Amino acid sequence: MSRPTQYKRIVLNSRPEADIQPDTFRTEVVPFNLKPDKGEALVQCTWLSLDPAMRGYIRDVRSYLPPVQIGETMRALGLGVVVEAGPGSKFKVGDYVSGTWGMTEYAVMKDKHLDRLVLAPGIEPIDYLNVLGTSGLTAYFGLKKIGELKAGEVLVVSGAAGSVGALACQLGKAQGATVYAIAGSKDKCEWLEKELGVDKAFNYKSSTFHADIKKIGYLDVYFDNVGGDMLDFLLTRLKKDARIILCGAISAYNATKPKGLQSYMNLISQRAKIQGFIVMDYASEYPAAIAELSKGLQSGTIKRKFHIVQGGIEQAPIALPMLFSGGNTGKLVVKVSEEPRGAKVKL
Ligand SMILES: NC(=O)c1ccc[n+]([C@@H]2O[C@H](COP(=O)([O-])OP(=O)(O)OC[C@H]3O[C@@H](n4cnc5c(N)ncnc54)[C@H](OP(=O)(O)O)[C@@H]3O)[C@@H](O)[C@H]2O)c1
Repeated sequence: MSRPTQYKRIVLNSRPEADIQPDTFRTEVVPFNLKPDKGEALVQCTWLSLDPAMRGYIRDVRSYLPPVQIGETMRALGLGVVVEAGPGSKFKVGDYVSGTWGMTEYAVMKDKHLDRLVLAPGIEPIDYLNVLGTSGLTAYFGLKKIGELKAGEVLVVSGAAGSVGALACQLGKAQGATVYAIAGSKDKCEWLEKELGVDKAFNYKSSTFHADIKKIGYLDVYFDNVGGDMLDFLLTRLKKDARIILCGAISAYNATKPKGLQSYMNLISQRAKIQGFIVMDYASEYPAAIAELSKGLQSGTIKRKFHIVQGGIEQAPIALPMLFSGGNTGKLVVKVSEEPRGAKVKL
């Protein structure tokens, strides 16, 4: 493969106080001097995942991962193809891989930081950024380990038309729960009901939202992607022994100081449990979960939806705020490049 003379990467330029700003990131064009060493591989990025967690990565606070520093390449999960293998690398040119190389067109990665994609009929590489990646695994482990959802229970999912939410809805239905979805538009609610088969979807921007939710009665499990006022309201809708899965709090990610909860005493009266989790804590159990989720994809019982942003890596910081304004339905990804010649798989 002929090498370019330069490549692009997106670095953190400044820390936003609230919403991500046009100058939060900047593009750097750097000379191409990447060469894999022993046990390393040079990867060409083909797809990037855009995730709400990125707002947290650029906040200078203690969290489950260190903050991205000013001037550093922005952290991001990607898919790509090995274009050169270093001496003794377990990867070969053309292998399809995933890894957290960040918002960059090319990266040299240590073998141990790359995963070779397992592809089978009915599985596309891009599924590893959605059903078989963080989103699917988060929905799977959130429901299983924290929600302990059982057949016949009532599950409510917020952020339901997003990547994690849409999978939580489908896994909940597959498990025999009654699933109520909450999303931010009529179109999203229609998609959730007609395509994903939830029992009913509610538009939280409707003036009758609170009254509408009250009509469904009380819930056993709440899969919370949103936090804030939505969580506060749903804490008033708990059955006895309810479980609240604190997956995310997107409504608060841009806030300087998130609001506190008013309704938490319902946790006491209803003997309810509320627990946060980080999906990567279950990494040792990923292979079994991916095998199960793959079967769902192959049989068609799990449906995937992508919101694809074309136009290369420079679109990544422009598209990222879409997650906070509700512009996406399904998994938000950026197409960074076409697969280089020699790649073993086609999309
Ligand atoms: N705990 C973990 O390990 C883990 C792992 C992955 C993701 N997460 C969390 O899971 C959640 C979903 O992530 P995702 O990747 O699937 O993103 P996503 O749901 O695909 O995209 C975000 C969606 O959130 C909704 N939203 C944005 N601002 C909102 C607000 N103020 N109130 C209500 N809804 C709002 C928007 O849809 P609407 O049109 O419906 O508003 C938007 O489309 C995030 O909170 C994320 O941080 C947690």
